[in-house]
Amino acid sequence: MIVVPGPSSQKLGYKIAELLKQKIIPIEFKRFPDGESYIRFEGEVGNKDVALVQTTGPPQDEHLVQLLLMADTAKTLKAKTITAVVPYFAYARQDQRFRLGEAFSVKTIVTLLQTCGVGKILTVNSHNPAVLGTLQVPVEDLSAIPLLAEHFQKRGFDGACSLALGKKGLATAVEADGVLGGGSDYISTQRDRVTGKVMIEEKPLPVKGRDVVIFDDIISSGGTMMKAVAWTRKQNARTVHVACVHPLLVGDAEDKILQCGAESIVGTDSVSSHISVVSVAPLIAEALITRGAKK
Ligand code: R5P
Repeated sequence: MIVVPGPSSQKLGYKIAELLKQKIIPIEFKRFPDGESYIRFEGEVGNKDVALVQTTGPPQDEHLVQLLLMADTAKTLKAKTITAVVPYFAYARQDQRFRLGEAFSVKTIVTLLQTCGVGKILTVNSHNPAVLGTLQVPVEDLSAIPLLAEHFQKRGFDGACSLALGKKGLATAVEADGVLGGGSDYISTQRDRVTGKVMIEEKPLPVKGRDVVIFDDIISSGGTMMKAVAWTRKQNARTVHVACVHPLLVGDAEDKILQCGAESIVGTDSVSSHISVVSVAPLIAEALITRGAKK
């Protein structure tokens, strides 16, 4: 297998290749003065299984175009198989037409990847794996939740209560509880489909006097997590910590969450940030070595 670390995942891509002890083909990349992306493979990929490592955090559109250029180039250079390793899968939240006339964005992105020769997508805690799995390219969705929970366990939070956002997120809390063992529950949320704003429903939580870790897939503006932390605090938790897989951290999201009473915020390196202290490289390396281009 050949690992190709893309412009958005240089560090992670090299880490994965190192764990796999596989060859790297570097990418020469630059941005033209008008903003367009330039991509060039600095080596042969012909007749090889190729893993393109390119997360699609902000700026999402630029990172997606780079990924499409990489995939189509690998296809033209006659790669045997092309796996797109996309730890953070942009546009996955627009996973249906919520309102008449809306784009089904995630479907469009998967169609483009398929056209460019991608035979498999490997991602981490995608927003809606069930929907991704129904699209044209086989998707393997890995979970970094146990790794995040282990991080808190190592910091002495064994027995902490694991919370997730929304009823649909309960499985995430249960997964974290498999490591922390202090019980799980969810903070009830409701999203306004027009404004996108999330409301917290005042559902009581079993957190009085407890250490709590709130798990979520994404922190973007931080609006959802701010409200979740504030509500958990109001329920008299002893300490509240936050774990997210994809720390997009738009603007001052981190400060806003801390101001609401979170003691710490931790993320993974699916998207590089200064809170990306948990690495998804071992998770991805293991999936690539055991299943490769197969689902
Ligand atoms: C929502 O469905 C996700 O799981 C996150 O809770 C949400 O995307 C976070 O967005 P923001 O940080 O902008 O509230």
